[in-house]
Amino acid sequence: MPEILSFTARSETTLKTGPSPMPLSVRHLAYKIGDTPILKGIDLDLTSNALTVLMGPNGAGKSVFLRLLHGLLTPTFGEVHWNGTNLTHDSRKSQALVFQKPVLLRRSVKANLNFALGLRPISNRSERLELALDQAGLSHLASRPARVLSGGEQQRLALARALILDPDVLMLDEPTANLDPASTLVIEQTIARARRLGVKIILVTHDPHQARRLAEEVVFLHEGQIAEHTAAKAFFDSPHSAAARAYLSGDILI
Ligand SMILES: Nc1ncnc2c1ncn2[C@@H]1O[C@H](COP(=O)(O)OP(=O)(O)O)[C@@H](O)[C@H]1O
Ligand SMILES: [Mg+2]
Repeated sequence: MPEILSFTARSETTLKTGPSPMPLSVRHLAYKIGDTPILKGIDLDLTSNALTVLMGPNGAGKSVFLRLLHGLLTPTFGEVHWNGTNLTHDSRKSQALVFQKPVLLRRSVKANLNFALGLRPISNRSERLELALDQAGLSHLASRPARVLSGGEQQRLALARALILDPDVLMLDEPTANLDPASTLVIEQTIARARRLGVKIILVTHDPHQARRLAEEVVFLHEGQIAEHTAAKAFFDSPHSAAARAYLSGDILI
């Protein structure tokens, strides 16, 4: 299987930590639904391309936070800055967000990928499509309607579609929840490949095993606030917040 599919602009390197292609700065971010505070004043800087895993118990605000980062929700208070400015239409196009439940078009697998490439003239369009299909393990399903795929196949397609335009930032919200081990493996391999190619990845997972496999740093969200932001090894060896210690030892329901 070819290693590089669509990341034509980047050369592959060993896992080196460098600057993020799109540094993130979050200041005093708060979000309320009605009168209920969901996020309560978050400050966070993600300036390196290290793979960030966002963890925290159910209801901590992880999904809301990703939506705020991607501009799908507007903060009640505070700022989200990418590259030092508010998210614009253009900078948003450099990001991809993959949801837990994939949202696909009522078209074939290949047409979903082709649609993502858009109308712009792309010289190697068919090569890119074939590579994306191959890397997602979907070549044999290229002409099948996307809606009849299994959950794992749909999520592989959603991820392939997210990556086909070479985003600078890839955010994933529990992308392997309820998937079988084979699809989980393909998704994790695809995430790891994107990381090697320099994409900034922010992955929400409530699976500590997956977090240990992929994380280079962990942001732990608890009750709408960041309880800690730590290098992955330190987080798993000795989390310094009581909330993360309780979570990792299974005291908080996940
Ligand atoms: N559209 C909504 N309406 C009402 N409450 C919501 C809505 N979306 C999220 N919430 C609430 O916000 C909190 C955080 O949700 P969410 O970000 O989905 O948590 P997580 O992803 O960490 O499990 C939860 O208490 C959830 O019930
Ligand atoms: Mg969630």
